[in-house]
Amino acid sequence: VDKPNVVIVIFGATGDLSKRKLFPSIYRLYQNGKIGEDFAVVGLARRPWTNDIFREKVCESINESESNNQIDLEAFASHFYYQSFDVTDSSSYTHLDGLLNHLEGQYQTDGNRIFYLAMAPEYFGTIANQIEQNGLKESVGWTRLVIEKPFGHDHISAKALNNQIRLAFNEDQIYRIDHYLGKEMVQNIEVIRFANGIFEHLWNNRFISNIQVTSSEKLGVEERARYYDRSGATRDMVQNHMLQMVALLAMEPPIKLTPEEIRSEKVKVLRALRLVEPTEEVENYFVRGQYGPGPLGKGYREEAPELKNSITETYVAGKVMIDNYRWAGVPFYIRTGKKMKEKSIKIVVEFKDIPMNLYYKDEAKRHPNLLVINIQPDEGITLHLNAKKAGIGSIAQPIELSYTNNGVDGINTPEAYEKLIYDCIIGDTTNFTHWDEVAYSWKYVDAVLDAWSKTEPLFPNYAAGSMGPEAADRLLEKDGFHWWPITD
Ligand code: BG6
Repeated sequence: VDKPNVVIVIFGATGDLSKRKLFPSIYRLYQNGKIGEDFAVVGLARRPWTNDIFREKVCESINESESNNQIDLEAFASHFYYQSFDVTDSSSYTHLDGLLNHLEGQYQTDGNRIFYLAMAPEYFGTIANQIEQNGLKESVGWTRLVIEKPFGHDHISAKALNNQIRLAFNEDQIYRIDHYLGKEMVQNIEVIRFANGIFEHLWNNRFISNIQVTSSEKLGVEERARYYDRSGATRDMVQNHMLQMVALLAMEPPIKLTPEEIRSEKVKVLRALRLVEPTEEVENYFVRGQYGPGPLGKGYREEAPELKNSITETYVAGKVMIDNYRWAGVPFYIRTGKKMKEKSIKIVVEFKDIPMNLYYKDEAKRHPNLLVINIQPDEGITLHLNAKKAGIGSIAQPIELSYTNNGVDGINTPEAYEKLIYDCIIGDTTNFTHWDEVAYSWKYVDAVLDAWSKTEPLFPNYAAGSMGPEAADRLLEKDGFHWWPITD
C-alpha cells in the first residue's frame, strides 16, 4: 500500500512521548508523502482540552523539533482531534467509538485503526480490554495495538500483562515498541552481516574474540525518577534494547526476510543465553553501578528526595554468554549507563589475532581487526585493518576504512519512531518485539537481578561524567580484553 489510510488513537496524548516523538514523526510521514490526506489522529488524556488547544500543542511540538516546515502546519494539525478521557470508564470508550465512526466517514480511512498506548503501563490491560468490550475493534478495516515499554517488571508480571492483553488482541495485532529496532544502524546489522561474504564466514567463535555493545548516555533520570528508580538500568535498557542488539548480532541467517523467520532466529539466540547463577559469582558476569557527584553534576541520590537511599543501578556492564555452536566461548560484553562521559551507541566486533604476527612482535602493540558499527551519534561503519606504512622498510600501521551513513540525499535518516509508526501502518511487524522475545529476555534479566539481590551494593561507585565503575574494566581484563573507546 502506498499511502495507507488510518486513524491513530493516542492514549496519553498530553504526555512527553507524544510531544517529543509521536507528533513530529507523524508530521514527517505526512511531509514525505508516506501518508496522504486520509488520516486522522485522536488524542486522548484526562485534561479537558479542546481540538483547538490540542492542535496548538501539536504545532508547538513540531516547531520545536523541526527546522524546515515545508508543509502548512495548520492543514496538518486539522487532522488532529482531542477527547478528554478516563481509561477506566466505559462511557469514554463509547464516546470514542462515536467519534471514530464520524471521522471514518470524513476521511476514508477504510476502518483502519491503530490504538497507541503512550502512557503508564498499569493501564495497558484495562485499556486493551475496554477497547474490546466496547466494540472498538469491530471495524470494517484492521485494528492494531501499539504498546510502549515497560512491558512488565519481571517475567511473571510481563506474562500476566501479556495474558490480559491477549484476551482482547491477537499476537499479530500487537506491536510492542523497542525504539532501538527503528534505528537506522541497528537495522543495518542484518544487512552488513548477510549481504557481505567477507563477514559472515568469519562471524563465529573461530574468528571473533569478543563483541562489545555500548549504549552510554550523558543524561540522568530527568523527570522520570519515580519510574526509573523502580526500574534501574537493567530493566530499562538491558531487557529490551541491549539484548535485542545482541540477538541481531548473534542470530543465524534467516531463510527469508519475513518477520516470522527473523523473529524465530532471534528467539533461538535469546533461548541460548546462559543464565547467571544465583551466587556471589554474579560479579564475574554482571557489574552494577550508581553515579555519585562528578564533572556532570550531582549524584543520583541527590537528584530527588526520594532517591536518598536508593540502591537502584544507573549503570550495568555484563558478560553475556551464548551457549550455541556458533558462539560457544565468545563473550558479548554489554554496558549501558546514565550520566556517563559521552552519548554513544556503538558495537565493536573484535577479531582474533592471526596465528603468527610477522609485523608486531610485541603482543601489546598489536592492532586487532575491528568492525565498528556506529549507531549514534554518528551513523556508519569502520573496519580497522593493518597496512604498510608508506616509505622505505616494511612497517605495518593501523588504518581505517570508513563509511558514513548520510541518509537519503544527504537528509538525516528518519527517526526511529517515524519508521516504526510507518511499519505499523503498513502492517510490518519485523521491527517490533514478539512475546517470545520479551519472555526470554525477562528470564535472563530476572536471573541477574535475583543474583544481585543477595548482596547490598556499594553505591555510589562511579562519578557522574565518567565511563562507569572500575569493576567494569576488570570484567574484561580477566579475559584478556579491554573496552574499546567509544569516541574515535
Ligand atoms: C529508553 C529508556 O528506552 O531509552 C531511557 O527508557 C533511555 O532511559 C532511552 O534514555 C535511550 O534511548 P536513545 O535512543 O537515546 O539511546
